[in-house]
Amino acid sequence: MILAIDEGTTGTTCLVFDDDGTLAGRAYREFTQHFPRPGWVEHDAAEIWEAVHAVAGEALDDAGCGPGMLRAVGITNQRETVCVWDPHTGEPLHHALVWQDRRTAERCDALRAAGHEALVRTKTGLVLDPYFSGTKIEWLLEHVDGLREKAQAGRAVFGTIDSWLVFKLTGEHVTDQSNASRTLLYDIAKGEWDDDLCALLGVPKQALPEVRPSIGEFGTTTPETLHGHVVPVAGIAGDQQSALYGQACLDPGMGKNTYGTGSFVLLNSGAAPPLAPPGLLTTVAWGIGQRTVYALEAAIFVTGAGVQWLRDGLGIIERADETEALAASLDGNDGVYFVPALTGLGSPHWDPYARGTIVGLTRGSTKAHLARATLEAMAYQTVDAIRAMEVACGTPLTELKADGGATANGWLMQFQADILGVPVVVPEVAETTALGAALLAGVGAGIWSQDHIARTWRARTRYEPRMGEDERAGLLQGWSAALSRTLS
Ligand code: G3P
Repeated sequence: MILAIDEGTTGTTCLVFDDDGTLAGRAYREFTQHFPRPGWVEHDAAEIWEAVHAVAGEALDDAGCGPGMLRAVGITNQRETVCVWDPHTGEPLHHALVWQDRRTAERCDALRAAGHEALVRTKTGLVLDPYFSGTKIEWLLEHVDGLREKAQAGRAVFGTIDSWLVFKLTGEHVTDQSNASRTLLYDIAKGEWDDDLCALLGVPKQALPEVRPSIGEFGTTTPETLHGHVVPVAGIAGDQQSALYGQACLDPGMGKNTYGTGSFVLLNSGAAPPLAPPGLLTTVAWGIGQRTVYALEAAIFVTGAGVQWLRDGLGIIERADETEALAASLDGNDGVYFVPALTGLGSPHWDPYARGTIVGLTRGSTKAHLARATLEAMAYQTVDAIRAMEVACGTPLTELKADGGATANGWLMQFQADILGVPVVVPEVAETTALGAALLAGVGAGIWSQDHIARTWRARTRYEPRMGEDERAGLLQGWSAALSRTLS
């Protein structure tokens, strides 16, 4: 069996697959979100490790995976989030700074004003935005007492969540190319930490993990770290790249959208890093041996997190799936739009100062309007991302492969097809992110070949667009107007 650990922004999913790729066991747990100040988002890395350890045990039990039955582990993770820990004690030295955290927005402005954006864009394929890890590491080095000295003395190391988990599981300080490509410190064409970028942000290179291909050996678990199982961690990728792999988008031109905390549209771009057009990112999809596969990406920061905010922030729903019936209870949106810029806006706007905005409320507005506006916003943001990609590639999209938790929401998927004007296809395994990690590990451990992935991908539901052109144009116009009131 293969264990896939999917450590996301709001919770950890562990899935266990048997040798022929059938799902045999699962478990899930949410963990605490810390919001110490407006715009700041932190996680407790120790709590994440405890959750991963416990959830892995539950999934292995659920699958009946006894001693000697596990063959490999795959890890996929929320990207860009920065952990810092003491490699001797294995204890975190600060809360992890989450990808959604905006505290380095002004630092990014200053770097841009000083003319550094071109260097960053050319080497990393990214933009100067607080989303990425580099300025977060710099912030920690400058604000945590004694951290710089510790980092220089080998008493503090940094890593993204994959790196933290593989360290706890195996004791190795490593990461994979796809996660490294989200740090602002990694030259994606050369495939190495970049001296100029590390110097620019004052990051000591020795405190960064060793970068390895996404498929292959990262270390071996111990009986204590993995419930008695001693197996290789044989595949690692950032969650969006993992979903691209799990959706069998193995050839250039194939793409997907994953609906998680945020939504991320990735398009396989093949063996050469494409120049990222305005508003989009170039990223490493995965590395296999000497071969690196690249992708174009549009990053949308808040989609599922908007529903979570309705539940936890406003308290107007108890469960996320209530939004489907609430949205369907209305004939239309009655002019209510929600731009969920709760952590700024990503692609294609890149506005870290934008704040969430609700427009069009009347005395008759209800929680159904807010629920519908939140779901509609997921779809509108996806349209904006895909239009930017179409302009970049010069080819119109013919269908959208969708995955992630919100694909269970049939109303949303139909609205997505309607507003995009092309079919939306949901695969049999909607937890494509975790599936991707299992596949990476399965290929890494020599259990499966890449052909296996393409052969086993199957569509579950296909949503055909049914909306008329006038209605679609009217809704998109309403969205654009709301958006223009949100941008800073
Ligand atoms: O880049 C952030 C992304 O990796 C977060 O993914 O699944 O938590 O929405 P998710």
